Amino acid sequence: MPDEVRVRITVNGTRHDLRTEPRTLLADLLRNDLALPGTHLGCEQGVCGACTVLVDDVATRSCLVFAAQLDGASVRTVESLAGADGTLHPIQRAFTEEHGLQCGFCTPGMLMGACELLERVPEPRREDVEEALGGNLCRCTGYQNIVRSVCAAGRLMAGQASDGQTSDGQTSDEQSGVRA
Ligand code: FES
Ligand code: FES
Repeated sequence: MPDEVRVRITVNGTRHDLRTEPRTLLADLLRNDLALPGTHLGCEQGVCGACTVLVDDVATRSCLVFAAQLDGASVRTVESLAGADGTLHPIQRAFTEEHGLQCGFCTPGMLMGACELLERVPEPRREDVEEALGGNLCRCTGYQNIVRSVCAAGRLMAGQASDGQTSDGQTSDEQSGVRA
């Protein structure tokens, strides 16, 4: 086995031509070689989803993929969401407004999983969100606010937000009583 392999990879729109060990995981390449620490490592076994990024637009656990497998691929991390001026992406805004995070450890994976869902299903139902993010673990929120955040993000992205209505027809005030 060679000591190093060449990996030509596009990350958040920037092309990189790298040499790395064959055993380097995508998560470590992002965090250590490309200084993108937004991708979190939790279980490192493919269980928690904290390390989720988009590889060629597909939600992927970066702790389970060798960087060497991704020569020619395009990767998006949580750092791709906000604008260059710091403007939050609608998904980030929705998570903030709907209290979709507490400690934030799971949040990068949740955001990228939500990103993939919203690109496939612009205005998802609660069930769609539960299915898409069912494998992403959060030890803080009880999940209710995360699901609500993703539905709200869909409305924001569709330009249908700000009428005070939630995806299931309740007002934010009505729903506040069930927040975790
Ligand atoms: S760190 Fe990758 S799934 Fe948990
Ligand atoms: S917000 Fe703490 S683990 Fe999800």
